[in-house]
Amino acid sequence: MKKILITGGAGFIGSHVVRLFVTKYPEYHIYNLDMLTYAGNLENNADIQDAPNYTFIKGDIVDAVFIDALFIEHQFEGVIHLAAESHVDRSITDPMAFVKTNVLGTVNLLNAFKTIWNNNFEGKRFYHISTDEVYGSLGAEGLFTETTAYDPNSPYSASKASSDHFVRAYGETYQLPYVLTNCSNNYGPNHFPEKLVPLFINNIINNQPLPVYGDGNYTRDWLFVIDHALAIDLVFHNGKNHQTYNIGGFNEWKNIDLVRLLCTIMDGKLGRTPGTSEQLITYVKDRPGHDLRYAIDASKINKELGWTPSVTFEQGLEKTVDWYLNNTQWLHHVTSGEYASYYKNQYE
Ligand code: NAD
Ligand code: TYD
Repeated sequence: MKKILITGGAGFIGSHVVRLFVTKYPEYHIYNLDMLTYAGNLENNADIQDAPNYTFIKGDIVDAVFIDALFIEHQFEGVIHLAAESHVDRSITDPMAFVKTNVLGTVNLLNAFKTIWNNNFEGKRFYHISTDEVYGSLGAEGLFTETTAYDPNSPYSASKASSDHFVRAYGETYQLPYVLTNCSNNYGPNHFPEKLVPLFINNIINNQPLPVYGDGNYTRDWLFVIDHALAIDLVFHNGKNHQTYNIGGFNEWKNIDLVRLLCTIMDGKLGRTPGTSEQLITYVKDRPGHDLRYAIDASKINKELGWTPSVTFEQGLEKTVDWYLNNTQWLHHVTSGEYASYYKNQYE
């Protein structure tokens, strides 16, 4: 059985990738390595936890001794690396956590992978998952392509950019066989309610204010998380070594327009009078260094690998809302404990 390590598989995107690989590839043994930070949750893996080709390992990618021993024990032939600190607002208050996990953690994985295969990389692959935020901010026009220069603005995007550079450098210096993808904003089930979409769904359910940063005219390119997982599957199997692929939804929305659409869907689902949830919109102090616009040109992955998003934004958003309304226990679990103090610091 081919042993594949997926890091961060108890988080939002990682849990969808783990589920896809465990169910689609019985010939692989999937090891899910996750430290279970506030963002990691084993409930996200509950449906596949007893699968014979699945093993969960609790551990920290920053711990080089532990990582080296794990790679020596299991001899992973493939790595799909998603573990990260992922929230821009948290990176503004605690940048060092991002340096440790996103930079040091990634280099630890690269070193362990390089050591066990000792330049004999035939049939091996290291897949690093990154973000479009490394490219910085666009003005009103233009799209990020794979050759756009890196220009990160937040500690989060700077740490991801740094990790991307290390992955490329290991490819050049040690011929480590990597693929790298930079994806736009994801949304969907199992998303921790600190990011825009799940935070606002949770607040609408609870009749709490919807804190829109600045004037709400910031633009993001939104992709349904399962479409990201499907793209990761394609790139892992068919992507070319030492290549970057941009992944995006061809789906730009100003925050305020997205929030209004979400309010309309939620009013319908909750049986509220149209316009009720919009009254919760509250403009709050802007995020420092807030990037104006992200938009991805995903034509390379489309042309080379045939990937295209499978759902429209309206369909994906409705599926997402339905998931949260059907999983109130999940929401309740993740919003107890640390969440309350995070929320107080961030918004009060
Ligand atoms: P997430 O915050 O939901 O999950 C991250 C997971 O990593 C959690 O399960 C957490 O417990 C784990 N983790 C954190 N630090 C760790 C450590 N030191 N050791 C081991 N595990 C650790 O993040 P996400 O939104 O699922 O993002 C996953 C990846 O995709 C990240 O690399 C992120 O940069 C990238 N990405 C995210 C988006 C997005 O919109 N969410 C878009 C593009 C790229
Ligand atoms: P977020 O989901 O944090 O993703 P990212 O910053 O990685 O793009 O934020 C998406 C957009 O929504 C971004 O422009 C910031 C904005 N935003 C708000 O207006 N209010 C909020 O409470 C949050 C969390 C985000």
